Formats: sequence, structure tokens, C-alpha cells
Amino acid sequence: MVPDDILGEHEVATSADMEALGRRIGDALVAGDVLVLTGPLGAGKTTLTRGIADGLGVRGPVQSPTFVLARTHPSLTGSAPLVHADAYRLSDAAELEDLDLDLDGSVTIIEWGRDAVAHIADAWWDIEITRPVGEADVDPENLDLDAPRTVVVTQRDASWL
Ligand SMILES: Nc1ncnc2c1ncn2[C@@H]1O[C@H](COP(=O)(O)OP(=O)(O)OP(=O)(O)O)[C@@H](O)[C@H]1O
Ligand SMILES: [Mg+2]
Repeated sequence: MVPDDILGEHEVATSADMEALGRRIGDALVAGDVLVLTGPLGAGKTTLTRGIADGLGVRGPVQSPTFVLARTHPSLTGSAPLVHADAYRLSDAAELEDLDLDLDGSVTIIEWGRDAVAHIADAWWDIEITRPVGEADVDPENLDLDAPRTVVVTQRDASWL
């Protein structure tokens, strides 16, 4: 369960703060929890996931799941394993179902899964990360520099659609 006091909007000043937010979330997650992450290139989805993995107590490293559709991080602590999936290159929700993810036995994070998640889960947390500046203003060479992000955490279920 994502703690209720994490629901809503957060201003996150640095990548270290993003990891810390992730650790608070990861600390509280249990098998069966599903999170969907949305946000543009360099928003901080993987940075947040790294914190979640640390808080949950699973083996790293967490990387952008660009070349695999889903990666499983086994637990180091007796927690649930973390399944980190990327729906970006899936053409439809049926392909997400085809991955046959072990939702009940894992904590599952699906990047870009907003349109597909309702096909595989009854309830989930939606996490949207935005940069307060317009896409065109971002210098791709300076994406690493600490700059504020806005994170909005919402609890959702299939009735939302
Ligand atoms: N406040 C912040 N929160 C998170 N990351 C930040 C912040 N400020 C700067 N950064 C930097 O932004 C980058 C975020 O990269 P990350 O890989 O987490 O993004 P992503 O959303 O996973 O991108 P992609 O879609 O390319 O996978 C990192 O280089 C990180 O250091
Ligand atoms: Mg990423």
C-alpha cells in the first residue's frame, strides 16, 4: 500500500529527494501492489523506481527497462520481488497481459502503463512526474542537473476508466 500521506502532489527538488520519496513508498509496498509511472524522458521515473527498490529491499541495479519488457528484481530481505515493466513499446493492452506478470506475488511498476493497466489489475497507484518547464526549454545535456519535479500520486481502480 502506498501510504495515504503520500497521496497528492509533491514538489521534489533534487534527484536525491526523488529517491527518498521512492524509499518511503517502497518501504510500505507489499505483494499485489501495482504502480503506474508516467512522465517524459528524463522526468525521473527510473530515479523514483531506484528509491522504491531500495525501500522495498530488492536487488538492483534498476535501469530504464528499454531493452526488456519486464525485469524482475529478487528480494534481498524477504520482501516481495519487484517487477519493473515498460509498456512504452507495447502496441496494446493484450501484449501486457501476454507478459503474464506475477502480479499477486510481486510489487509491479509499469512505466507508460496508464492505458493498459486496467486490463491486468483491479486497483493501482498512478504516479505522474512532470518538469515544471516546457519540453522545449529542456537542454538534453543538462537533464542530470538537479531541477524541481512535480510528482502527483493518485489511487485508482478500474471504475476510474
Ligand atoms: N528533482 C529531480 N528528480 C529526479 N531526477 C532529477 C531531478 N533533478 C534532476 N534529475 C535528473 O534527471 C534524470 C532523471 O532520469 P531518469 O532516468 O530517472 O528519468 P526517466 O523518467 O526514467 O527517463 P526515461 O524516460 O529516459 O527512462 C537523472 O539524470 C536525474 O539525476
Ligand atoms: Mg527511465
